[in-house]
Amino acid sequence: PADTKPPAGTGVRGEGDMPGVVIVGAQWGDEGKGKATDVLGSRVDYVVKFNGGNNAGHTVVIGDQKFALHLLPSGILTPDVTPVIGNGVVVDISVLFSEIDALIERGVDPSKLLISNAAHIIAPYARTLDNVTERFLGKRKIGTTGRGIGPAYADKINRLGIRMGDLFDEPLLRDKIEGALEQKNHLLVKVYNRRAITVDEVAEELLQYRDRLEPMVTDTSLVLNQALDRGETVLFEGGQATMLDVDHGTYPFVTSSSATAGGASTGSGVGPTRIDSVIGIVKAYTTRVGEGPMPTELFDESGQHLAQVGHEFGTTTGRPRRCGWYDAVIARYASRVNGLTDLVLTKLDVLTGLEEIPVCVAYDVDGTRYEELPQDQAAFAAATPVYEYLPGWSEDISGAREFSDLPQTAQDYVMALEKISNCRISAIGVGPGRDEIIVNHDLLHARGE
Ligand code: GDP
Ligand code: IMO
Ligand code: MG
Repeated sequence: PADTKPPAGTGVRGEGDMPGVVIVGAQWGDEGKGKATDVLGSRVDYVVKFNGGNNAGHTVVIGDQKFALHLLPSGILTPDVTPVIGNGVVVDISVLFSEIDALIERGVDPSKLLISNAAHIIAPYARTLDNVTERFLGKRKIGTTGRGIGPAYADKINRLGIRMGDLFDEPLLRDKIEGALEQKNHLLVKVYNRRAITVDEVAEELLQYRDRLEPMVTDTSLVLNQALDRGETVLFEGGQATMLDVDHGTYPFVTSSSATAGGASTGSGVGPTRIDSVIGIVKAYTTRVGEGPMPTELFDESGQHLAQVGHEFGTTTGRPRRCGWYDAVIARYASRVNGLTDLVLTKLDVLTGLEEIPVCVAYDVDGTRYEELPQDQAAFAAATPVYEYLPGWSEDISGAREFSDLPQTAQDYVMALEKISNCRISAIGVGPGRDEIIVNHDLLHARGE
């Protein structure tokens, strides 16, 4: 009966409610999260980006059209979805509008987009600081995307950040910019030998977008919780990945946000009790962009083969991605720190034609076998893979839509990965297209079978 329904936004679930579903990268990014989000898009009501910014690059292929998204949630390509930029995201407003305008030109309607008033803005000086910091780090550099991500999050934690909501209170905005610049200008001028920035130039750059932003900026935590109260489905789309998470990744070679499942709650204002399933996206091999250790990295022809067949070039920076074999130690770790309920295994088609496929099942560090990720930075950097070798297949698998359509050795490869990764594999990507996927279990009701 109606009077027993909990009030809106209380976080108490009513009967028949649909789930909150989280998607995260299980490796070092570029696993195909954008495609997975797009595939689920037709069955969800909201898609929320909860971390990161325009360091992300998601390629989504629909028919003969290819879309490269950076800041906008991948749900933006599905007409009935409300895309949301959550409070955990850092927003470069000029990038936001160039992305929106490019989509409008291609016939996509982004008018439903909502942005959290608490999302932080990537100020113009954050981009400058990102690049000069990298230069000063020299051989210790992180290999960032140069988009100002680290400095924007640093300002947020330092309580010097500017938030979307501040744009609508000009005196407050100017005061905050002034406060931030007092520190930044010392750094820019005295340490990095750059020119000082004025309050006016920053305020002007940000305020030019105010009117366009006004209808989008809102309390997105309230909107999302009310949607869940109504029984609607919310998909939380993670940027970056587990091994780039600021806490759980290969620190310091990480991004500056919470890319693991916990980030979905803090980055959206939806409590963990409302999240029903956590889907990890994992490639059938491994890639990484930027600096930092990667135990299965290949420096031979096999690595070049994976890069070529898999088109492993960054969507954001165009940098070639480092390639290596599947690393089950990392998959098990991702399964643990995210509490994964499912894995989506992507790019299985890229392995077609290999006679034998090595899979890393453990590490060797100076003669000691590690089944779990070494927590000590030097040990992980020294880890060499312990491989098992699985038989490959030569048949084209891009037309497979049922698990049984796959050649026996491809089925065995998937089953072996499921076993050593400690998580069931619920879907398998066999090509970049929207329909090039085998779905084995219902991903939106992961635990409901
Ligand atoms: P994201 O950052 O996790 O969204 O991944 P990216 O879009 O950066 O990189 C994944 C790339 O692989 C994109 O070019 C996708 O179009 C492509 N892709 C996704 N799934 C598959 C798949 O199953 N097979 C193949 N061949 N390509 C895929
Ligand atoms: P998606 O969402 C792959 C990497 C950078 C660098 C490190 C820190 O497409 O999977 P940053 O600019 O975030 O401070 O850089 O993180 N990186 C990514 N690598 N995919 C991404 O996003 C990435 N976002 C950041 O290469 O090593
Ligand atoms: Mg990417």
